[in-house]
Amino acid sequence: MAFFTRPSKLITLSVIISTLRSHFGLSPIFLEALAGADFAWHTLAATDTLVWTACYDGFECTRLNVPLDYASPSTGNATVAITRLPSTAPKSKYRGPILLNPGGPGGSGVDYVVESGASIATILGDGFDLLRIPGVSYSTPMVSFFKTDAERALWTPAATNTMYPSLNESSNAVAEQWARAQIQGRLAEARNDNFQYMTTDNAARDMLRITEAFGWDKLQYWGVSYGSVLGSTFAALFPDKVGRVVIDGVLDMASWYSANLTSEMVDTDKALQTFIDRCFAAGPDDCAFYANSSAQISANLDALSASIKGDPLPVITPLSYGIVGYTFLRNFIFDSFYSPYDLFVPLAQSLADLAAGNATTMYAATEIAPFECECNATGTAIPFHENNYEAGLTIACGDATAVNDTVATLQTFEDDERTVSGFADLWGNWRIVCSGWKLHRKGRFSGPFGAANVSFPLLVIGNTVDHVTPIWGANKTANAFPGSVLLTLDTVGHTSLAAPSTCIYAHLRAYFVNGTLPAAGTVCSPDGVLFPSSNGTDVSSRELGSREELLQAGRIIGRAARRVTGGRMPF
Ligand SMILES: *[C@@H]1O[C@H](CO)[C@@H](O)[C@H](O)[C@H]1NC(C)=O
Ligand SMILES: *[C@@H]1O[C@H](CO)[C@@H](O)[C@H](O)[C@H]1NC(C)=O
Ligand SMILES: *[C@@H]1O[C@H](CO)[C@@H](O)[C@H](O)[C@H]1NC(C)=O
Ligand SMILES: *[C@@H]1O[C@H](CO)[C@@H](O)[C@H](O)[C@H]1NC(C)=O
Ligand SMILES: *[C@@H]1O[C@H](CO)[C@@H](O)[C@H](O)[C@H]1NC(C)=O
Ligand SMILES: *[C@@H]1O[C@H](CO)[C@@H](O)[C@H](O)[C@H]1NC(C)=O
Ligand SMILES: *[C@@H]1O[C@H](CO)[C@@H](O)[C@H](O)[C@H]1NC(C)=O
Ligand SMILES: *[C@@H]1O[C@H](CO)[C@@H](O)[C@H](O)[C@H]1NC(C)=O
Ligand SMILES: *[C@@H]1O[C@H](CO)[C@@H](O)[C@H](O)[C@H]1NC(C)=O
Ligand SMILES: *[C@@H]1O[C@H](CO)[C@@H](O)[C@H](O)[C@H]1NC(C)=O
Ligand SMILES: *[C@@H]1O[C@H](CO)[C@@H](O)[C@H](O)[C@H]1NC(C)=O
Repeated sequence: MAFFTRPSKLITLSVIISTLRSHFGLSPIFLEALAGADFAWHTLAATDTLVWTACYDGFECTRLNVPLDYASPSTGNATVAITRLPSTAPKSKYRGPILLNPGGPGGSGVDYVVESGASIATILGDGFDLLRIPGVSYSTPMVSFFKTDAERALWTPAATNTMYPSLNESSNAVAEQWARAQIQGRLAEARNDNFQYMTTDNAARDMLRITEAFGWDKLQYWGVSYGSVLGSTFAALFPDKVGRVVIDGVLDMASWYSANLTSEMVDTDKALQTFIDRCFAAGPDDCAFYANSSAQISANLDALSASIKGDPLPVITPLSYGIVGYTFLRNFIFDSFYSPYDLFVPLAQSLADLAAGNATTMYAATEIAPFECECNATGTAIPFHENNYEAGLTIACGDATAVNDTVATLQTFEDDERTVSGFADLWGNWRIVCSGWKLHRKGRFSGPFGAANVSFPLLVIGNTVDHVTPIWGANKTANAFPGSVLLTLDTVGHTSLAAPSTCIYAHLRAYFVNGTLPAAGTVCSPDGVLFPSSNGTDVSSRELGSREELLQAGRIIGRAARRVTGGRMPF
């Protein structure tokens, strides 16, 4: 099936829903199976040099020793799990390793490279080894707050849409979330296994180690979302080791390291307005939630939210069961802003069905099977598990200044945040989660958030309407590393992976292959349409050949990034 063609609404919708469902992380057990009969991470010895073992059908894996604490190597070793898609180019054309980070920050293991490595090679060209860093799931220390998968499943809601409640769901929601954060903080302390070393600055030092282990002097890197914090932290710590660094969907470092992400919301409401305006422009045939003006669509959405708040809907499907309530609805809308080219059409359909009393469409789009214990009585069969959530918290809260918030200060924080965005009811959770966190390493990175003299300019990519990493942060970061260039993608969505854009791909390739930066002020357009026309006249449906291949590759990378970050952490 051609990429943008739309044979019928029904088929497109079912394809998109199955895409949504697969946004959830592959379990480590599944990945172990995928890795091949002869390969299992836990049997791979950690080594001081890069010793590659075949894995995942065409990939190579290794576990590298790195210091737990770079300030005090005698503290012991951590190990970094690395998977690479090796370059297929002749030796003379070899261009070295590119380290990749799809965001998270917890993001599960190595699956980003396994799923999207070939597509990334299609876009960047051959000659590069492509590898994912840091490989949280198969690296050690293995962050876990829970003794078993069952304990984790009982504490963390299965549906990502209900993981973080709307702080407008009830009048004591802030207080309840604060209390949960205190428990998580204490569990982390009680079960601490050197978690204080799981910080972004140490991941940046690991990146230098890995680069040097390849025999290269300077870093080549493409980091999106949280990966931008890792990239800019690297450039701040090692300005003379910057080879090619792309940061894409940029989080402001000062916000990140102070656990205050309020400024990341300056464009969030524009994302909702874009959905509404484009739905209206698309018309009733192509947007199921259409009404006769943008204002009317907005009013219908408000009415639907109010109705669901009073009357949540129970849903039972052949696979699972759950409640579509206010929190579910708010998260469902917010999550669609990450990947609007995949998700705006089904969002409109889900809202229309919900307004008609049918919550199944919305529920089924993200449902997962109920938890079942896959472990032996003696414990899990393999020493690795899905720890996206815990790893994400550990990195985010461990990086930041200790905030020590009380319920009262959090309530004030939430009230302030509401002046910035109507989605503060969801976003305020990112402050609360760190309020119970106590594991802070002395001497961790706290700035300066820039460097006067990087050895090569950074390529910094920002979208005009990104609901969690606004272009404000990309511009600020580009200015913090003089010589760097801001490349703008004129679209709604989070990071350049949110929207297929051959213009962006061309700039990425020119930068990595030739070191060519776009002219200052360059603006790329997306090649996709948010609400494709059902009569099939969209220009993009006519694309053929290598251009379509590129767009397809971009779409695969975007989906892989969304999947490994799993929706449990926002970046
Ligand atoms: C720790 O790593 C260093 C090199 O990075 C290595 O020499 C040493 O053997 C490692 N120690 C252990 C216990 O693996
Ligand atoms: C959430 O509650 C606050 C305070 O009551 C209110 O100002 C705001 O409009 C509500 N937000 C939403 C999205 O309903
Ligand atoms: C968080 O950042 C916002 C925006 O910069 C600022 O207005 C607010 O005072 C900050 N809150 C705290 C507790 O630092
Ligand atoms: C738009 O729809 C609303 C509600 O259905 C209706 O009251 C209004 O008259 C309509 N306006 C136009 C211009 O059709
Ligand atoms: C609700 O929507 C789903 C998915 O679109 C559909 O399969 C189902 O038949 C609908 N249920 C009712 C009662 O209309
Ligand atoms: C359960 O443990 C036994 C003994 O350690 C092992 O042989 C078996 O493969 C494990 N089963 C599963 C499903 O992991
Ligand atoms: C939080 O508490 C820690 C330890 O008690 C203290 O060092 C730090 O200064 C406090 N942070 C703030 C922002 O008050
Ligand atoms: C800036 O970095 C370049 C490349 O590493 C170096 O040649 C130059 O001397 C540096 N300039 C300053 C002022 O540090
Ligand atoms: C980037 O920042 C500069 C300096 O603050 C400002 O002049 C410019 O308008 C900003 N550009 C964008 C796209 O925000
Ligand atoms: C790199 O530069 C060479 C020589 O100018 C040019 O032929 C080639 O097209 C460029 N490649 C890219 C990807 O920009
Ligand atoms: C198809 O839809 C587009 C945009 O909605 C419209 O401009 C065009 O006239 C339509 N073409 C046909 C043949 O209906």
